[in-house]
Amino acid sequence: MIIRSEKPSDIEAIAEVTKAAFEGHPLRQQTEPAIIYDLRTDAALTISLVCEVDGRVVGHIAFSSVTISDGTPNWHGLGPISVLPEYQGNRIGTALVTNGLSLLKSMSSKGCVLVGTLSYFNRFGFWNHSQLIHEGTPQEVFLANSFVEKVPNGTVAYHQAFNQLSMIEKDAIADVIIDYAIAGIKVDLADPAIESLLEKEILTEMPDGKVMIRPSLIAKYDSYLAQISQFRATEMSRVHKNPILAAIKHGNG
Ligand SMILES: CC(C)(COP(=O)(O)OP(=O)(O)OC[C@H]1O[C@@H](n2cnc3c(N)ncnc32)[C@H](O)[C@@H]1OP(=O)(O)O)[C@@H](O)C(=O)NCCC(=O)NCCS
Repeated sequence: MIIRSEKPSDIEAIAEVTKAAFEGHPLRQQTEPAIIYDLRTDAALTISLVCEVDGRVVGHIAFSSVTISDGTPNWHGLGPISVLPEYQGNRIGTALVTNGLSLLKSMSSKGCVLVGTLSYFNRFGFWNHSQLIHEGTPQEVFLANSFVEKVPNGTVAYHQAFNQLSMIEKDAIADVIIDYAIAGIKVDLADPAIESLLEKEILTEMPDGKVMIRPSLIAKYDSYLAQISQFRATEMSRVHKNPILAAIKHGNG
C-alpha cells in the first residue's frame, strides 16, 4: 500500500472511489465527489492523499481550511475520506488519517474537525467537544482533535464547497427551469426541496405565489439540466411521480 499526494491523473479515480464509498450511505447526500471537485477547483484542498494498491487508487482523504467564530486560526476539516468498499477493513482508512494528520501538523495546523462516528475516529484523537459546534450537524458526530492544549470555543464553518445542493434540490431546480421554459412555473410550494431552495435564496417567491430562480443564478443552474436528464433517465421511480412520463411509458402519451 502506498500513501501519496494526488496527481492530476488521479482525479477521475478519486471521484469514483468517493462515489462508491458513499453510495447508499444513509446520512449522506452523495455530494462528496462534487465537494472534492469544487475544493480542488478553488485551490482549497490543503491536503489530498490517495492510497494506491497494485497501481490502483483505492482510497482518498481530503483536508481543507475551516474558520471558527472565536477567531482561532489554522484549523482544518478532515473529509471526505473514502475507501473502496471491497478494500475496507484493511487499515487503509487508518493509514490515510494518520498520514494526513502528520502532514497537517507539519504545516503548523492547530487542530482538525470532522463529521463522523466517534467509535471510528477517537482512535486518532478525535473527541466530542461541546464548545465547538457546526450548525446543522448533530453534536455527537461533530468531532475535533486539537494539536495544542486549548480547544477553540465557537461555531465552525467549512469551505463553501461543502454547501452542495442535494440531488432532490437539483431536481427541483431543473423542474423550475423546464417548467418556466415550457408551460410557466408550476411547483408545489409545500415540497421540502422547494422550501429548502427558498430558504437558501436560490429560488424567490413571486407576488402571485409562484417561484423563480434568482436571475443571477440562472446561468449556473442551467448546467444541472444535462445532469438531471441523465438522473431522470435512470431513476424509474421518478416516472411514477410524473404523469406525463408515466403516460408515455404506459403507451398513453
Ligand atoms: C470509514 C472508512 C474510511 C474506514 O476505512 P477502512 O480502511 O475500512 O478502515 P480501517 O481498516 O482503517 O479500520 C480500522 C478499524 O476501524 C473499524 N471501522 C471501520 N469503519 C468503521 C466505522 N464506520 N465505525 C466504527 N469502526 C469502524 C474497523 O473495523 C477496524 O477495527 P479494528 O481495529 O477493531 O480491526 C471506510 O469504511 C469508508 O470509506 N466508509 C464510507 C465513507 C465514510 O463513511 N467516510 C467517513 C465519513 S467522512
